[in-house]
Amino acid sequence: MTHETILTEQRGRVALVTLNRPKALNAINRQLTEELLSALEGFDKDPGIGCIVITGSEKAFAAGADIKEMQEASYIEMYSNDWFSAWDRMIAVRKPIIAAVAGYALGGGCELAMMCDFILAADSAKFGQPEIKLGVMPGMGGSQRLTRLVGRAKAMEMCLTGRMMDAAEAERAGLASRIVPAAELVEEAVRTAETIAGMSLPAVMMVKEAVNRADQVNLTEGLRHERRVFHAMFALDDQKEGMTAFVEKRAPDFKHR
Ligand code: HXC
Repeated sequence: MTHETILTEQRGRVALVTLNRPKALNAINRQLTEELLSALEGFDKDPGIGCIVITGSEKAFAAGADIKEMQEASYIEMYSNDWFSAWDRMIAVRKPIIAAVAGYALGGGCELAMMCDFILAADSAKFGQPEIKLGVMPGMGGSQRLTRLVGRAKAMEMCLTGRMMDAAEAERAGLASRIVPAAELVEEAVRTAETIAGMSLPAVMMVKEAVNRADQVNLTEGLRHERRVFHAMFALDDQKEGMTAFVEKRAPDFKHR
């Protein structure tokens, strides 16, 4: 399918999505939202894909929701259209999504990165929730996800002052899983995605579901969920293959990839 605001590419079992509104620093407008969400849903259903990478440009992952598009909106438009609720579709994607962030990830851009399963940051990455400077606040999950990821003190300071965090601080704070040199970001993200896509897909999806559950339920319920899913994995051929391959000192040949 052709898109105007994103580029998509398949590399082996990895889908690479590049946000592509360079003149607006990849600001997230309605068209980009729809194109990105439908691409993600397509890859989620595609048996040839095991992991997805979302990236932007060297200068910006995404500089936020499109301010020009929102500027004149009224409360009733925002409320009636439940602006940003479409992003619940991204949360429903069951395959892992990696954000490969270089340059600015601000406002909705930072929130989009946080909706991914983890963030690989280039050394040039800058994260922030500057909505307060526009007289508003995060609306795509920033006040909730940033707080869970980096803790209350940093999240509160970032959302109240709009200051940016560089890559080193983001990694220290737990927002980014790793920092890589900007020139290697996309290759390293695709390599990481290939590693994941080489695992048993149902096992990968169950891991994603279980780790995400840690944000949603208390520890007792989370542990119960983990144990039940762990038990269920013994119904998979890939569990037999993975453990047999270990015992036979060979690489596993997973059936469900
Ligand atoms: C629309 C945007 C934009 C945005 C940049 N542009 N960010 N357009 N929405 N969020 C456009 C600029 O208007 C400009 O277009 C072009 O991209 C280049 O941007 P410059 O500002 O000229 O670049 P630079 O001086 O390098 O500054 C980069 C920047 C700055 C620091 C990232 O652009 C900036 O502060 N952007 C806004 C960041 C922000 O406030 N994000 C939060 C958005 S609100 P023209 O046509 O003038 O050349 C948000 C709402 C959250 O996300 C609620 C839920 C999502």
